[in-house]
Amino acid sequence: MVKDFIALTDYSREEIEQLLDFADSLKAGIKAGETQRHLAGKTVAMLFEKPSLRTRVTFETGVFQMGGHAIYFQTSLGERETVADMARNLDRWVDCVVARTFKHEHVVELAEYCDHAPVVNGLTDFNHPCQILADVQALREHRGKDFTGFKLAFVGDGNNVFNSWANFARRVPMDLTLVCPPGYEADSEFVAQARAEAAGKIEITDDLEGVRGAHAVYTDVWASMGQEQEAARRQRDFGRYQVNASLMALADKDALFLHCLPAHRGSEVTDEVIDSPQSIVFDQAENRLHAQKAVLATLVR
Ligand code: CP
Ligand code: NVA
Repeated sequence: MVKDFIALTDYSREEIEQLLDFADSLKAGIKAGETQRHLAGKTVAMLFEKPSLRTRVTFETGVFQMGGHAIYFQTSLGERETVADMARNLDRWVDCVVARTFKHEHVVELAEYCDHAPVVNGLTDFNHPCQILADVQALREHRGKDFTGFKLAFVGDGNNVFNSWANFARRVPMDLTLVCPPGYEADSEFVAQARAEAAGKIEITDDLEGVRGAHAVYTDVWASMGQEQEAARRQRDFGRYQVNASLMALADKDALFLHCLPAHRGSEVTDEVIDSPQSIVFDQAENRLHAQKAVLATLVR
């Protein structure tokens, strides 16, 4: 059985920390001009159902930097052939599959039918684990590796990015608060399970006071890919939840601002906040490259 990277909960705390340390060493190495050959002679198929800037470019660049070859293609899963058949084909040819899908079950199914090639989740409607790995790498750079007592306020939709933060909090003790309008909470069963496993607190509130004292404030688009038809309603419902200077003032005075990007400036975040010295959004984006290289170099054998 190959190990996949579908959700952070596939990994222990120790394994997550090893991936992060490895990402740090790959980052330092590439900046020092090191030749990295972890993927020499290996091919990675990247199948994407949704648009991407960061995920696509960082995976392709990462594979190239490690001496491998990446094949990107846009596809609709389950239309031309079954997901299982697509997986059984790819598994005969390539050494790893990176998939960005609408349905989380499709990434799970690809993994089920890829016996040889590990499958890496490049974002689904449920999770975005590569993002959180890169975010945590950036947070460690800014505030150290110890997350004890660390509070992150996620302001906005209880979406895939929030869910992966909840998964991280199931493994590494920290406090996580989702601050969202009523009706946009994460799935209650999933949250109950996360709370049962988390050493820290996982809270959900519609009160902006939930941001008070946070060491990091995170936001994401109000309408995720695939929810475009809900964009107008969401724009109205989320209006009060914009991360602006007055909301940031509730957080710790040294609080960092994070966003997975792409950002809709003027909606979920103001220019003033995203362009402020507290913002580490481009460090997060940079680390997508290094964190994913650590995942690939660990999984592809
Ligand atoms: N954050 C992120 O995954 O960006 P892309 O959608 O551009 O890949
Ligand atoms: N929640 C967003 C994240 C984009 C990186 C989406 O799924 O569109």
